[in-house]
Amino acid sequence: MTRTALDYTVELDRTAGADQDEETFLVRRPDGTEQRIRLHDYDLVYNVPGLYEEVVQRQLECASPATIVSRLADAVGKAGIETGDVRVLDVGAGNGVIGEGLRDAGFRVPVASDALVEARTAAERDRPGLYAEYVIDDGTPDAFDQIGAAIRRHELNALTCAAALGPGHIPIERLIGVWGLLPPGSFIALTATTALVAEWGGAQIALNAVSGEDAPTEVVHTETFRHRLLMDGGSVDYDVIVGRKPA
Ligand SMILES: C[S@@+](CC[C@H](N)C(=O)[O-])C[C@H]1O[C@@H](n2cnc3c(N)ncnc32)[C@H](O)[C@@H]1O
Repeated sequence: MTRTALDYTVELDRTAGADQDEETFLVRRPDGTEQRIRLHDYDLVYNVPGLYEEVVQRQLECASPATIVSRLADAVGKAGIETGDVRVLDVGAGNGVIGEGLRDAGFRVPVASDALVEARTAAERDRPGLYAEYVIDDGTPDAFDQIGAAIRRHELNALTCAAALGPGHIPIERLIGVWGLLPPGSFIALTATTALVAEWGGAQIALNAVSGEDAPTEVVHTETFRHRLLMDGGSVDYDVIVGRKPA
């Protein structure tokens, strides 16, 4: 996305102790109007060009995109595979920040999925041509079939899912189902809160769960990193987990 000057300013609500899903900010426009938006109301955020990038990437210094892209690239490189031979499904893709990072690192990113039509509209508006297909996953069997068809059509062999798993986001059961559709030898790269990964029982147990009926997915790399600042000045840690299905 080409960064252009924003025609609004953003003021974060720095009230101490707000949970990640309670955080809000104020958007002020030149005509004097103001709009308070909850960060997790992604439909409202994506509707405003540049707002997600301004709040999450710039002001809150989100490290998930750079982390997931570089760790997946490292894993693929160590396996002796070129990034250009890796075709990724980005799950919970939002407006395409992760997809753009993957593309810039040489990966191919033909397919995205997300629950929100607003996410697809924003991706097409701000990053036209990034994806060949963007499937709206409303959790139905029909959407699951559409994702499966796209995986086969584009011969996908990797799945990424950044900051989109867990309560209020994508249920782990959905991820298990979609990962099951990828062929042997495929890569997976996730970021999720360190607390959630601990609840799952750690990275390998999480990947065992995600493997479903398949042969277990091996952890290739895991580490804890600072995902982003919180609006009150604190920060939240996530784990990045990269795995691979046995070939
Ligand atoms: C924090 S954003 C992350 C977006 C993107 N991965 C990134 O890092 O820029 C979480 C995304 O998950 C999506 N999401 C939440 N629940 C979902 C669900 N049940 N199915 C698919 N996508 C979902 C949201 O619409 C949102 O785009």
